[in-house]
Amino acid sequence: MYPKSLIRVFERAAAFILEADGRATGLTGAGISVASGIPAFRGSQGLWDKYDPSEYAEISSFRRQPEKVWGMLGEMLAVVEKAQPNKAHKSLAKLEGKGLLQSLITQNVDGLHQAAGNRKVIEFHGATRHLCCLECDWRWANFKLSKCKNMPPRCQECGAILKPDVVFFGEQIPKWALLEASSAAEKAKVMLVVGTSANVHPAAEMPILTKKAGGRVIEINLGPTSLSGPVSDLTILGPADEVLPEIVAACERLSGSE
Ligand code: APR
Repeated sequence: MYPKSLIRVFERAAAFILEADGRATGLTGAGISVASGIPAFRGSQGLWDKYDPSEYAEISSFRRQPEKVWGMLGEMLAVVEKAQPNKAHKSLAKLEGKGLLQSLITQNVDGLHQAAGNRKVIEFHGATRHLCCLECDWRWANFKLSKCKNMPPRCQECGAILKPDVVFFGEQIPKWALLEASSAAEKAKVMLVVGTSANVHPAAEMPILTKKAGGRVIEINLGPTSLSGPVSDLTILGPADEVLPEIVAACERLSGSE
């Protein structure tokens, strides 16, 4: 059971969501998938502690040494393919199911929001489940490590080593994703920002678009970020898979839909 002061914070977040009357959106980052066993990039045990992003996450590094980068990608895909949505993902799916969340922008490439049931997901950094060829336009949709006899996976048209269809540093965010996410952020009366260090742009600008358009920002994280204070109207410090279910329960209590 949480202290009354924390219950009041959950209820304040729920009131913001209910007052938005369906015009709520979300921005999620790696922190929401930590409880599903997928390490975040930064902070303790972060992936970038183990793999230097300048050697493994830059598109120039991939073009120069694709086999080396696949050393990290293979490890990441093995974890992602085993991962299941956790209570935080399921809470956002519940909010969409109740008509309270009209879209969800994610920086994550693990597909767990869709697996949890969210339908309106904007994958801002792409998704690891699809591979693409940098030499021709062949694509391997719904790639599974278990289906790949020889690593790294190669293009069946031209033989080049394939790349997961995710945005590497030095690549552009897909235009459609940037447009859709910006529009969702500007239209939202409230944005739930969950599990992101707000370090990487332009994703980190989405909450600012909501704020500038007169919306509110609720931030859920283990610690404060650059958004806390200047942008976030409410910063709730705690694990997303504990906080989000409490916010959904408060929405149900306040709207009498328990
Ligand atoms: N609940 C809530 N927040 C959490 C949890 C948790 N259980 N665990 C970690 N966090 C928070 C951390 O405090 C941190 O602020 O999640 C955030 C994770 O930050 P990053 O690892 O930087 O992940 P993210 O913000 O998604 O990174 C953005 O950077 O490397 C690129 O493309 C990559 O999409 C990624 C982008």
